Amino acid sequence: MSTPFLSVRDLRVHFSTEDGMVKAVDGLSFDVDRGKTLGIVGESGSGKSVTNLAILGLHHPDHTEIEGEILLDGQDLLAASERELERLRGNKMAMVFQDALASLSPYHTIGAQIGETFRKHTGASKREARARAVEMLTKVGIPQPNLRVDDYPHQFSGGMRQRAMIAMSLVCDPALLVADEPTTALDVTVQAQIMDLLKDLQQEFGTAIIFITHDLGVIADIADDVLVMYGGRCVERGTKKEVLRAPQHPYTWGLLGSMPTLEGPVDVPLSPIPGTPPSLLNPPTGCRFHPRCSFTEQVGGDRCSAQQPPLDLVSGRGAACHLTPEQRAEFFDDFAGTRPN
Ligand SMILES: Nc1ncnc2c1ncn2[C@@H]1O[C@H](COP(=O)(O)OP(=O)(O)OP(=O)(O)O)[C@@H](O)[C@H]1O
Ligand SMILES: [Mg+2]
Repeated sequence: MSTPFLSVRDLRVHFSTEDGMVKAVDGLSFDVDRGKTLGIVGESGSGKSVTNLAILGLHHPDHTEIEGEILLDGQDLLAASERELERLRGNKMAMVFQDALASLSPYHTIGAQIGETFRKHTGASKREARARAVEMLTKVGIPQPNLRVDDYPHQFSGGMRQRAMIAMSLVCDPALLVADEPTTALDVTVQAQIMDLLKDLQQEFGTAIIFITHDLGVIADIADDVLVMYGGRCVERGTKKEVLRAPQHPYTWGLLGSMPTLEGPVDVPLSPIPGTPPSLLNPPTGCRFHPRCSFTEQVGGDRCSAQQPPLDLVSGRGAACHLTPEQRAEFFDDFAGTRPN
């Protein structure tokens, strides 16, 4: 078996706050291979961003406790110095955020910002860096890149800024790209263009991508594998087909149930998952989803509230739920039968 390009094992990220310890990520494991896209999905506050900021080494060291193992191409990122991380960021790994305006400096031209990242990692001259910026803007589909390279961020539309940020992230051909809801703020057409762009760039460079989103439709479009997060843990993991076609966890059923379908009649209301996300200061005991789950009686006894359902650390496919495989198949069939399509 070949070693995965990125391997995360039993990751824990805890923040000490005035109110107590926030267990934002609590025992998370996954792999991503070169040229593949892992989609991470889960409600707001489930720990998606915290996980990926830990990979990039972007958490403030004060008040943050990080445990577990993060290996990128065999290198232990949790043991890397700040200087080493600085070198890896932008060069070997890069992140695209939801809000390009907040990530780009308003005072420097788009070209200067893309070029600066390139210069920092390659030692290229200013002239070479500018040429590279134009090349990258061309790649991400900015019209008239020779002229637009000298624009400031506010002169770009939202979609163009997002492209510019992707250009900046990819300027040094990083082997790992983390895209944290990069298209959420954009309209559907631009969203689709950006996803196509990421797929093209992945084809060209063999980039490993982690794509974070609330949107299962986006996952269906771009992901190879899917990780479903709930309350700082992984509740289900598998290939896109496995997770979307034959989900095994009641929380994933809930997510699918709250997703609009193209085929369904438009007046069928979406059914959001009842209840609220768990507190991470005092997480529920046992399965963190149990207070919102409709299947605890079928499991029986107090197992759901007393025992954390295991998830195999190494296998790619799994769901952390006490229901038996037979029960899951039966209940999912019932659930699927009630869906509009
Ligand atoms: N520096 C911090 N100190 C304390 N708590 C934090 C800190 N950063 C994040 N958290 C908490 O950790 C939890 C997970 O946050 P995270 O940003 O990873 O959620 P998310 O899944 O990315 O949500 P969203 O979909 O809204 O972006 C949240 O409850 C958040 O309030
Ligand atoms: Mg987030």
